[in-house]
Formats: sequence, C-alpha cells, structure tokens
Amino acid sequence: MKEMLNIALPKGRLGEKVYAMFEQAGFPCPSIKENNRKLIFENQEAGVRYFWVKPSDVAIYVERGAADIGVAGKDILLEYRPQVYELLDLDIGKCRMAVAAPAGFRDDPNRTLRVATKFSRIARDYYAGQGRDIDIIHLNGSIEIAPILGLSDVIVDIVETGTTLKENNLEVTETVVPISARLIANKASFKFKNEPIEKILQQMAVLTER
Ligand code: PRP
Repeated sequence: MKEMLNIALPKGRLGEKVYAMFEQAGFPCPSIKENNRKLIFENQEAGVRYFWVKPSDVAIYVERGAADIGVAGKDILLEYRPQVYELLDLDIGKCRMAVAAPAGFRDDPNRTLRVATKFSRIARDYYAGQGRDIDIIHLNGSIEIAPILGLSDVIVDIVETGTTLKENNLEVTETVVPISARLIANKASFKFKNEPIEKILQQMAVLTER
C-alpha cells in the first residue's frame, strides 16, 4: 500500500484557503468538503490524509511527526520555535504583530511598561531589542480589554483589519513583525517522504508566485 502523507490543516478561517492550495497542488481529497464534523479525511489514491486541528496546534503535530507537513502562522513559529522546517511563505493569512495602546497613550520610559499579550516571547524579544524594561502579563484571549481596565499599558497582538482595535478605542503604536501562513515540515518526514513533500512545495511555490 502507498505510504500516506499526513497533513495538518488549521481549522477555521484560513483552513479553507489552505486546503484549496493543496488541492490545486495536485493533492485533492473531495470528502473534506462534505459538511460534517469529521476531523480526518483521506484520499488513498492521492496518498494524502488531512486533519483539522486548532491553528496554534499545527506546529505541535508537525514537530512530533503526527503530521508530516502542515500550515502554521509565523506568529506561532516565532512564539513557540518548534523544531520544524519552514518551507514556504504561502502569502495568505496576512496580518501583523503590533503594539497597540489606548488612543493618546504616551509611554514614560522611566516606568516599567506593562504589556498584555498571548505572545510573551515575541513581546519579550521585541522590547529586549529596544532595551525597554517591561512586565509581561500573559493572557489567553480578549487581550484588547487589558489596557481598558488598567491591567496593562499596552498590548502586543495580531492586527488584521484593525476593527477589533478600533471598536475598543485602541490604536497601533508600533509594528513588531509582519505575519503570514507558512508551509512547515517534520524534519524526519522531509527526509523520508521527500518526494511528495517536494512536489507539494514546488506546486505551492508556483501558486504563490501568481
Ligand atoms: C485576532 C487578534 C485580534 C483580532 C484582530 O484574534 O487577537 O483580536 O484577530 O483582527 P482585526 O484586526 O481584523 O480585528 P483571532 O480572531 O485570531 O482569535 P483569538 O481571539 O483567539 O486571538
């Protein structure tokens, strides 16, 4: 029997686009479009098995080899530094990591800056690079309300359209790093299942150049 390539897809907004790219790259799996709550789909003929996982978990599956390849945001790769190969910038899921503060906020460099974020390492690295003394307040979601309630001075979070910030009277003060979706591979799989992975990589590279 043909060896299957296991592919972790990020469940949600980005997932459909990501699957469409794999399909165009020559690795279709029609059953994935059936509207049900199944999480694993395979097409033996094409040699692929797809599974939907939480976007922030894709890198864990790939790092540990439960998935041979997958698609993860650069934010996750920077924050968790998984031991995987980053093969390609897919040029989708584009947004940026930014510092945001209540409108009119003025930073006082003599005080420790209180930073609320889900991305503690990214925030720590960014401010270390500036030599700015900070206090990280690690939160798991709804980061935008932290400065409103006085829990923090600023936030470091993902900004896509800017709507969430606007509706909470916050504004971007600095861009930390641009973010987009990346094709990643397990290191051993890249060696032992190189042929199908290379094929996907080549085809996807063509798609992103269009
Ligand atoms: C992200 C981020 C912001 C929002 C920004 O959350 O944390 O809340 O998107 O998007 P916008 O600039 O288009 O308003 P996401 O929906 O990815 O999930 P989360 O709440 O789990 O962080």
